[in-house]
Amino acid sequence: MASTSRTILICSGKGGVGKTTLTANLGIALARLGLRTVVLDADFGLRNLDLLLGLENRIVFTAQEVLAESCRLEQALVKHKQEPNLALLPAGNPRMLEWLKPEDMQTIAGMLEKQFDYVLIDCPAGIEDGFKNAVAAAKEAIVITTPEVSAVRDADRVIGLLNTHGVKPVQLVLNRVRPKMMASQEMLAVDDVTDILALPLLGLVLEDEQVIVSTNRGEPLTLNGSSSPAARAYGNVARRLQGDDVPLIDPSKEGRGLRAKVRRLMQKKIF
Ligand SMILES: Nc1ncnc2c1ncn2[C@@H]1O[C@H](COP(=O)(O)OP(=O)(O)OP(=O)(O)O)[C@@H](O)[C@H]1O
Ligand SMILES: [Mg+2]
Repeated sequence: MASTSRTILICSGKGGVGKTTLTANLGIALARLGLRTVVLDADFGLRNLDLLLGLENRIVFTAQEVLAESCRLEQALVKHKQEPNLALLPAGNPRMLEWLKPEDMQTIAGMLEKQFDYVLIDCPAGIEDGFKNAVAAAKEAIVITTPEVSAVRDADRVIGLLNTHGVKPVQLVLNRVRPKMMASQEMLAVDDVTDILALPLLGLVLEDEQVIVSTNRGEPLTLNGSSSPAARAYGNVARRLQGDDVPLIDPSKEGRGLRAKVRRLMQKKIF
């Protein structure tokens, strides 16, 4: 086993809040730090981690053939061309959901832990069988939510289940933060969310249209050293996982308007 191997489930409860985007970008960010990282698509119903990473045309075998022992793990792993420290283990076809058991996910994770420093598991939405299978393999978890009441409520349910399964530590990433809406109290504030969920905050990712552009291109933001706010946030999550003390951004100072710019300049005493 890689001596420091960490298997982290990326989950949310609610769908569409940014699990797969975080898994892909965090995978690249960790790989760029020199850490051997594998991303495991546990969303067998709606797999799209391969698409986000631009690896969909390079898939030959999947976790399904590995489990059936009809190929070796090495044959199924898809190495990222630009980031050789990153590999993807693709999900098999959706019918896997009919027979996959929690022990199967443990078997796969056990194999990956022998070779990688980080095993990131992209969890399906919901708390049904797909979640139960994925959580069985997890040692730690990152819960991702947006600052919306429904997403926070679902995150709370998932946190309860993670506790029941003995997954520890569980940390929080707050995604799609809009500083302006927070400032005008149209959106839950960061403190509201952390108070409700009582989890340590591992990262804050701003709403960033570059995320959508990069998703459509199959080139995660973190890949090409983008300096966009979300790219920085994903990079910071990777460094915090590694134990670096990286300060969180303050959404009230991250606006893009003129006032925010003036405030930033004054803080840097550039005036
Ligand atoms: N910080 C962000 N800023 C803007 N758009 C974002 C951000 N994070 C995610 N998105 C967008 O939100 C959508 C959903 O993201 P993603 O597929 O990662 O969510 P998910 O939780 O994996 O969804 P599912 O539950 O369906 O698996 C995508 O279109 C993605 O580009
Ligand atoms: Mg997803």
